[in-house]
Amino acid sequence: MSPAPLTDSIRSRVFTALAGVTDPEIRKPITDLDMVSGVTVTETGQVTVGIRLTIAGCPAAQRIESDVLAAAESVSGAGRASVEVAIMTREQRTALTEKLRGGQVERSVQFGPESLTRVYAITSGKGGVGKSTVTANLAVALAGEGLRVGIVDADVHGFSIPGLLGLVHDGLAVKPTQVGDMILPPIAHDVKIISIGMFIDDASAAVAWRGPMLHRTIKQFLTDVYFGDLDVLLLDLPPGTGDVAITVGQLLPHAEVIVVTTPQAAAADVAERSGIVARQTGQSVYGVIENMSAMVQPDGSLLELFGSGGGAEVARRLSLGQPVPVPVLAQVPLSVPLRTGGDAGLPVVLGAPDDPAARAILRLAHSMKTRARGLAGLSLGLRPR
Ligand SMILES: Nc1ncnc2c1ncn2[C@@H]1O[C@H](COP(=O)(O)OP(=O)(O)OP(=O)(O)O)[C@@H](O)[C@H]1O
Ligand SMILES: [Mg+2]
Repeated sequence: MSPAPLTDSIRSRVFTALAGVTDPEIRKPITDLDMVSGVTVTETGQVTVGIRLTIAGCPAAQRIESDVLAAAESVSGAGRASVEVAIMTREQRTALTEKLRGGQVERSVQFGPESLTRVYAITSGKGGVGKSTVTANLAVALAGEGLRVGIVDADVHGFSIPGLLGLVHDGLAVKPTQVGDMILPPIAHDVKIISIGMFIDDASAAVAWRGPMLHRTIKQFLTDVYFGDLDVLLLDLPPGTGDVAITVGQLLPHAEVIVVTTPQAAAADVAERSGIVARQTGQSVYGVIENMSAMVQPDGSLLELFGSGGGAEVARRLSLGQPVPVPVLAQVPLSVPLRTGGDAGLPVVLGAPDDPAARAILRLAHSMKTRARGLAGLSLGLRPR
């Protein structure tokens, strides 16, 4: 047998193996991303794979290179492999970003009404009730259910999501990779995350942000950030009913709102208001999460630091005049591991899943999984005759 068919067969098997290598940031096979420029096989079975990285200094370069080597060498008959690395030209990058956008040259807001992604905006009236902590843990728990999950951290003053998920180095949030005009969101614990904090080097600079700038930034997050196909997108909103909530309501009117509140009766008024404002922009209220609920102490007694009943009260008020009552989705007790997990960047649902607060969030994620995607909650526009 002449050597040519043999090298041809190795070559095609190397291509097949390379289809199993994914770009860790884009999460698609490198063969689909036109990142493989060629495969050559010598008569002695030596394989050389040419790859094109999206940008110079691509943070995923090492991982891609070693995955490519491993894939090439896994092919039987192939000897040692080597990789030749190049960087995409501007035209190749543009072609890639267009391909990722599904052939659309025009950029538009993702997750619009036609998308099957469930969008939940996490709001509260008061600050400090645990919105970001709940958002981060819920996202990780939903990813643990096998869903494709993203978070948009829209809290310009707080932007605590990167820290809660361990995306902070030397006090600064990890920067996203940019490919052309497309931003690749960093991934932590299987969740794609974009945060205003990733674009700010001096945290105090953000304080001066005003409505129009916030609006542009959130809009850019929803257009230029490549989330790919998501099952669930969570938006962590700043406290209150300000500009960001209204922007989100305008850009994503079909988003559902989750109101986070404490058990404290006094918090109920403001929490209710955030639900009402959401409805004014056409969003519906999915439910209420009561956070910082009673904690069972080691001696078995109940610590109700913030009283009780706040979640049920907010749900009751938001249900008035509604065809379907607004439920209390979960009661998340006060929990030291929940707080320390946030401080350490390791969400309690991963670090201590048996903790009662973790269990409450994991249970909620499990119940949300069944409605993750599809037409169940969408209006089909049918009317009775
Ligand atoms: N169930 C809980 N038990 C104990 N500590 C909690 C609990 N939930 C949140 N915390 C702590 O309370 C603080 C505020 O939480 P978090 O930042 O999530 O609130 P937030 O509503 O996002 O605040 P902001 O309005 O500033 O955005 C954090 O230190 C967090 O660790
Ligand atoms: Mg917050």
